[in-house]
Amino acid sequence: MASSSISITSGVFLVIFVWLWSSCLYANGCYTSIISFGDSLADTGNLKHLASISNQVFPVFLPPYGENFMNQTTGRCSNGRLIIDFLAERLGLPLTPPFLQDNGNNNMVTFKQGVNFAVAGATALDPSVLEPRGIVNPMTNASLGVQLAWFKQSLPSICGNESNCRDFIGRSLILVGEIGGNDYNYPILWGQPIEEVEVLVPLVVDTIISTINELIGMGAKTLVVPGNFPVGCSASYLTVCGSQNEEYDPKTGCLVRLNQFAEYHNKLLQTKLKQVRDLHPDVNIFYADYYNAAMEIYRFPYKYGFTNGALKACCGGEGRYNVDPTVQCGEVSATVCDEPDTHVSWDGIHLTEAAYRVISKNLFSTPQFNSLCSTSTSGVGLSGSL
Ligand SMILES: *[C@@H]1O[C@H](CO)[C@@H](O)[C@H](O)[C@H]1NC(C)=O
Ligand SMILES: *[C@@H]1O[C@H](CO)[C@@H](O)[C@H](O)[C@H]1NC(C)=O
Ligand SMILES: *[C@@H]1O[C@H](CO)[C@@H](O)[C@H](O)[C@H]1NC(C)=O
Repeated sequence: MASSSISITSGVFLVIFVWLWSSCLYANGCYTSIISFGDSLADTGNLKHLASISNQVFPVFLPPYGENFMNQTTGRCSNGRLIIDFLAERLGLPLTPPFLQDNGNNNMVTFKQGVNFAVAGATALDPSVLEPRGIVNPMTNASLGVQLAWFKQSLPSICGNESNCRDFIGRSLILVGEIGGNDYNYPILWGQPIEEVEVLVPLVVDTIISTINELIGMGAKTLVVPGNFPVGCSASYLTVCGSQNEEYDPKTGCLVRLNQFAEYHNKLLQTKLKQVRDLHPDVNIFYADYYNAAMEIYRFPYKYGFTNGALKACCGGEGRYNVDPTVQCGEVSATVCDEPDTHVSWDGIHLTEAAYRVISKNLFSTPQFNSLCSTSTSGVGLSGSL
């Protein structure tokens, strides 16, 4: 009797203690929801829904995609969870559901705890900007502007009147990106010279920044803005753009010029984010450094258990990097590795769940990320009263 009452008491104490502890040290409990915009790095099912209503099937909706996600092809472009999923788990929130779903408006209530507008294949720039430059998106026209418009239209159903919605947005962690990668991927992988694609970078960054400004105007208090990945390390780029004339980083085997391109985007984005921060000191803007979080793995794959190296895709075709542009992962002729956890690259473009897990840990277990919580308005109620 006595011992059971002690263990119940200490159990309750432990729960309270862990709750207090986690609300101080971790972002846990700080945000009531995640609102997400982006592309395949964050899409949890929107393109799958769009494709199903237009009777399109993309290989990413077929096995082995999702083989480590309860064996379900959810529309996530990986074998399992994405960075946004690990972020949600870390914040103690449900996995962020896709905005576009079969039962549409019935989900508005669940969206109070998170809603994801990211669409695989999406660009930051609208087709009206890209098409005159010869860039036609084969997957979706749901650019960042379209995603923001969906968000605005859905707000009354999710949170009611304007003041309630400002409150909802202010208490949310808003993930803006990664977005912009596809604006560059399409033209570069189709053979446009990098110098021509470079002129898009200021346009892409301005689009991201104006989206952030709009969100701040709507009440956003915490924004997480990822940069681009080191695409020069991606198996698809290595296959399509690699040649004897290209410079390779001797430490990683990645293509130097493409990584410099990604860094150019990231530097410009960070410069502009600093300007937004200076104008809005009450808003937390966290630059999520996907580039360096991934470079850590490309430099030291063995340290993280990637015993098949960082550059060879798990799922794809023949070739030095297991990428064959004529055979896509998800097609019957594709080959799949036995141990995806030992690969960084899942399908040549997207990473494995194991890689996304390491990147998420490197980004979101840091004091810089956790400090967002103590300064966010939603956190004041908890940490302020302690
Ligand atoms: C996963 O799904 C595939 C095809 O949908 C099936 O062949 C396989 O047996 C399933 N695996 C498990 C562990 O359920
Ligand atoms: C995108 O919009 C263009 C018109 O601007 C249309 O021709 C094209 O079919 C659309 N593509 C998709 C994938 O919806
Ligand atoms: C918004 O709705 C809430 C109820 O959900 C109400 O208490 C509040 O007065 C409303 N605010 C405005 C400005 O209409």
